[in-house]
Amino acid sequence: MEKFVIRGGKPLCGDVVIGGAKNAAVAILPATILAKGKCVIENLPCISDVMASLQILSELGASIRMVSRNIYEIDTTHIDCTEVSNELSRQMRASYYFLGALLGRFGSGQVAMPGGCNLGPRPIDQHLKAFTAMGAQDSVEYGMIRVTAQDLHGAHVFFDTVSVGATMNAMLAAATAQGTTILENVAREPHVVDLANCLNLMGADIHGAGTDVIKIRGVKELHGCTYSVIPDQIEAGSYMVAAAITAGDVTLHNVIPKHLEPISAKLISAGCEITEFDDALRIRRTGPLRPLKIKTMPHPGFPTDMQPLMTVLMTLAEGTSIVTEGIWENRFRYVDELIHMGARIRVDGQVAVVEGVKELHPAPLRATDLRAGAAMVMAALATSGTSEIDETVHIERGYENIVEKLQELGADIRRVEVPVSAISRAI
Ligand code: EPZ
Repeated sequence: MEKFVIRGGKPLCGDVVIGGAKNAAVAILPATILAKGKCVIENLPCISDVMASLQILSELGASIRMVSRNIYEIDTTHIDCTEVSNELSRQMRASYYFLGALLGRFGSGQVAMPGGCNLGPRPIDQHLKAFTAMGAQDSVEYGMIRVTAQDLHGAHVFFDTVSVGATMNAMLAAATAQGTTILENVAREPHVVDLANCLNLMGADIHGAGTDVIKIRGVKELHGCTYSVIPDQIEAGSYMVAAAITAGDVTLHNVIPKHLEPISAKLISAGCEITEFDDALRIRRTGPLRPLKIKTMPHPGFPTDMQPLMTVLMTLAEGTSIVTEGIWENRFRYVDELIHMGARIRVDGQVAVVEGVKELHPAPLRATDLRAGAAMVMAALATSGTSEIDETVHIERGYENIVEKLQELGADIRRVEVPVSAISRAI
């Protein structure tokens, strides 16, 4: 097990290259199951969720060749198994995308039933609603969910709630189903569009991704392709916050500035200067931080995955900020860690009232989940002492080389191995 040791207080300056989007990659990798032929997927972030997806493909029977650190060639022709093992599917919640892809290709699929998580309950009723409308049946046994269909057919589905996962899973199942599927009240996130673009390159017929109605004409089969995953909007947003909180000057490369607009708009209101280029963005802060009102919403609203990072930034603003979480029931668990650092935050249900303070103090911190963990890193970078962050495994799930990238920008951050004896003493 590892921890991060961070000595903060330095403005971050320089250039950082953003990797491929985790939440696109974890759907595009299962999508290769639908293709007859080799798929070469480029710009894959080298993070544990992507490695787990590749391992699942390999266990199902796919041949996988690493072309380079971020490029893999995948041939799913010889997949002969439709059950993702309990152990592997529990490694990451997004293993539910294997249900849609396996259902589309084989008419059946099985993964572990996703349980609640530290963001609150994470139901998949809307995924199942779409599969059922397409003619599938589902059953749960020993914690595993199984979907099967004799004839998967097109359907008209109106989602009760806007769900990224249900939208993408329904697209996977519908791409080769018989007939036309219309999905209404869908998610419009950049990764939804990215999956549609990848499936279309494989020969699918999908229109409307990025709007709230998606139309999918089922095709007989899909073929191999070479596809490059879009840059990660949230990784980019996280480095923007790193620049803002340390009063630095950072240029991000390999980004799509349009995808960052909801984040850029808030950071400009908070007192940052942002310059957009074709596939780069420069952010700097020279003045004080101004307070904000933020409410997280489905795209193009402010992304929930940036909420913990922006709350940390607001702890140092001159005035009172209001942060409202509109997607997850339980996404303020990290606030206690910030209070240990001297932050003044009051949480009432889904709303956090943040009274800006002059400075945060170093403290022993815990990464309670992926984005909260990244937020702790930002908080530690803003203090003028040394903080240690435990349970960094959550952070490494979604941020490729975060320590090395921050070091390049001038941060004093190290990964330190925690001896097993220290862990057992702590337990
Ligand atoms: C995706 O999760 C992301 N994960 C999450 O990012 C992100 O926070 C979330 O979308 C919202 O943007 C991946 O893409 C792998 P949802 P997902 O289905 O698809 C409710 C990160 O840090 N809902 O859009 O699971 C649900 O409870 C992670 O990278 C149902 O009620 O989220 C939630 O309140 C964390 N029934 C809301 O919808 C369903 O069947 C949005 O969930 C599905 C969802």
